[in-house]
Amino acid sequence: AMDFTVLQSPVLLIFLAPHCHVINFALQSLYTRPVTYSSTAAVIFNVFYLFFPQYTFNDLSGSVSLAWVGDGTGVILALTTFQVPFFMIRLGQSKLYRSENYGKSFQDVTNLINNTFIRSEFGIAIGPENSGKVILTGEVSGGHGSRIFVSDDFGKSFSHQDLPFIPLMQITYNPDNSNVLMVLSNSNELWLSEDFGSNWKKHIEDINDRGMLELRRITDYGKTTKTVASKVYSFGLGGRFLFASVMTGKGTMRMIHVSVDQGETWNMAQLPPVGHEQFYSILAANDEMVFMHVDEPGDTGFGTIYVSDDRGTVYSKSLERHLYTTTGGDTDFTNVTSLRGVFITSVLAEDNSVQSVVSFDQGGEWVPLRKPADSKCDATAKDPDKCSLHIHAAYSIAMRLNVPMLPLTEPNAVGLILAHGSVGDAISVMKPDVYVSDDGGYTWIKALEGPHHYAILDSGGLLVAVEHSVNQPINKIKFSTDEGQCWGVYTFTKDPIYFTGLASEPGARSMNVSIWGYRDSLLSQYWISITIDFRDLLTRDCDDNDYVQWLAHSDDISDPNDGCMLGYKEKFLRLRKDSVCWNGRDYEVNTQPTPCPCTLDDFLCDFGYYRQENSSECVEQPDLKGKVLEFCLHGEEEKLQTSGYRKIPGDKCEGGEMPERKEIDLRKRCVSDLVGPELLVNSPSSKSVPIVITVIIIMLLSIAAGVVFVKKYVCGGRFLVHRYSVLQQHVEDNAVDGVDDPLETNHTHNGKIEFHDDSDEVQ
Ligand SMILES: *[C@@H]1O[C@H](CO)[C@@H](O)[C@H](O)[C@H]1NC(C)=O
Ligand SMILES: *[C@@H]1O[C@H](CO)[C@@H](O)[C@H](O)[C@H]1NC(C)=O
Ligand SMILES: *[C@@H]1O[C@H](CO)[C@@H](O)[C@H](O)[C@H]1NC(C)=O
Ligand SMILES: *[C@@H]1O[C@H](CO)[C@@H](O)[C@H](O)[C@H]1NC(C)=O
Repeated sequence: AMDFTVLQSPVLLIFLAPHCHVINFALQSLYTRPVTYSSTAAVIFNVFYLFFPQYTFNDLSGSVSLAWVGDGTGVILALTTFQVPFFMIRLGQSKLYRSENYGKSFQDVTNLINNTFIRSEFGIAIGPENSGKVILTGEVSGGHGSRIFVSDDFGKSFSHQDLPFIPLMQITYNPDNSNVLMVLSNSNELWLSEDFGSNWKKHIEDINDRGMLELRRITDYGKTTKTVASKVYSFGLGGRFLFASVMTGKGTMRMIHVSVDQGETWNMAQLPPVGHEQFYSILAANDEMVFMHVDEPGDTGFGTIYVSDDRGTVYSKSLERHLYTTTGGDTDFTNVTSLRGVFITSVLAEDNSVQSVVSFDQGGEWVPLRKPADSKCDATAKDPDKCSLHIHAAYSIAMRLNVPMLPLTEPNAVGLILAHGSVGDAISVMKPDVYVSDDGGYTWIKALEGPHHYAILDSGGLLVAVEHSVNQPINKIKFSTDEGQCWGVYTFTKDPIYFTGLASEPGARSMNVSIWGYRDSLLSQYWISITIDFRDLLTRDCDDNDYVQWLAHSDDISDPNDGCMLGYKEKFLRLRKDSVCWNGRDYEVNTQPTPCPCTLDDFLCDFGYYRQENSSECVEQPDLKGKVLEFCLHGEEEKLQTSGYRKIPGDKCEGGEMPERKEIDLRKRCVSDLVGPELLVNSPSSKSVPIVITVIIIMLLSIAAGVVFVKKYVCGGRFLVHRYSVLQQHVEDNAVDGVDDPLETNHTHNGKIEFHDDSDEVQ
């Protein structure tokens, strides 16, 4: 059976420049060079029909999953699935299509999977790097068995294997050896395979006992198992840090413990403990530091962001009233990957409005976003001339506002941010517009009116956008070669389609973008994908003259002290706005970092020191003055001396102001009793009773003592005084809490790790 046909239609280009105040020369000359566009070969259309559902159920629309196999191979697998829930039995069918040319044409390869129903939620697992490995997880006999189809030749051929269990999640690859696979089963067992899925071994049975979890580390591809922590509630990995939230023994509170050696040794994180209705969440982490959200007590929908030091143990308060809903688990926290040190998120203001804030220095300071020059304040603004830009992110999408996409940034599109937003005193529920920043969030322009789907192509040299209109078929795609200032419009088909989304190869290096949608007629409904190769628009390769130097975090490149961020400044070579050319797949971000002289702002305040408002200097907390700081929550003592300063993680400043400090001996650092393996309770035998009692006694002692201790000293030996009242408040609040709930760790699509123990999400 013929599943799709290829249609070709004449190319039409209409240029509109609705927001274009300056049409620069290069673009004008481009626009008046009709030859580039009118050649029908320029942009090729491929329309193909993927399937024709014959069912008349309303909810039987099916889904399409796209997966790019390898980097720059052009191989895409498209999996269409539809399923009928019928007397608790799921009847489903999948079809598999494969493209070798970036989606321009697909081949039906459903025969390779023998009509097996592939699970659409986590059915496709693509191997790391360019391994060419693909695993499709399918169901056999109505969901009572599982079968995998594995390929190691970029999906050209598959072999199949029945699994002795039913997977609960996507099969994951070991990043160092893609033959080693790991998966959890639906009966909460851990299964490993060392031979790319041929043989599976059960490693841990029933890890469902959520009251008292043990954290075990499996090494040597499953040969060695070691329990590294007990009484664990949940755990999460962020950068090189392993976090575990551990019950404090009384069964009411839990605290974060952190390890930088895969659980060999643990330190207590200097964060407030939380009760059963609260949660911790790792917002972002790399090898140097972590952003941790700590929920407020009560169902407030907000909490506090803390940023860690380089060991993950000492934290300073970064942002209060940070919006993070307890129920939905939604936060707007966004790492702006196109510029180092920039993060955007939302706060819940005193009046319960949601307002966006941006930090340009890795959480050191948060400020409102500057109002775009070409925009007027909306009705949310008290003063019609004074307001700021607010960004719609995950929270707005969860609230079902008309926001089709999250903010978009790419590391190779330096400085570029695309996001939906509104301009006022707070985020507005009215129809949002698309705003673009080309300098990492310092300045913004309104780029497109109304909500759009957008994508970054050619490392930022090309932006494309399609208007988001739910019930209106569309046939136009907009594109910009000058970072969103001016937009061209291209009509890609005569017969408009119901648009569902844009798809382009991850990594933003491609010039090919696929417009996905469907056509609907009385008799049939079918998916359509139209792939446009913009290489036919940007025919010229960029040369040296197309790039200009740009100093990040600066508005005056001639000022020698401008642009320093975490101890160094970076100059980038960026495409000129008026250059219409192709960066190419091999384009590398070209940066020249130069160190800056240190100032006091390159340092955190150490244990027992704090910064007074509007001052960079760390001053000693008065009641600690002159004393040797001794601390350990559980009785071990540590002496430390400090001048009050500690370098901010990742800061590379050189020379300049260097506060003197003596290093303390960290070998004797505080180790918490809570996760110590000597306290492991392996079975509920009589032997365990004295141990449990010992733990409880130790905990009772330390909690009683906590009133004194926690006020002054915190594990790890460092303490930020402005957190004082928070810590104390939590200690008191949690003393009367009830039983804890289990916790979940989620990896979201954008790579953000959620370390979330919200009780409402427990299945
Ligand atoms: C496809 O499925 C049928 C029926 O279950 C089976 O007899 C046949 O061997 C399968 N073919 C392949 C290639 O798996
Ligand atoms: C933010 O993203 C950049 C670019 O991907 C990455 O290098 C950095 O480590 C991230 N920061 C954090 C705290 O996750
Ligand atoms: C776009 O797709 C074509 C194949 O159709 C491929 O040759 C080309 O390399 C792709 N362009 C980019 C920039 O990926
Ligand atoms: C700190 O600076 C802000 C803004 O410059 C000002 O409003 C505030 O009063 C200052 N605080 C102190 C204690 O000087």
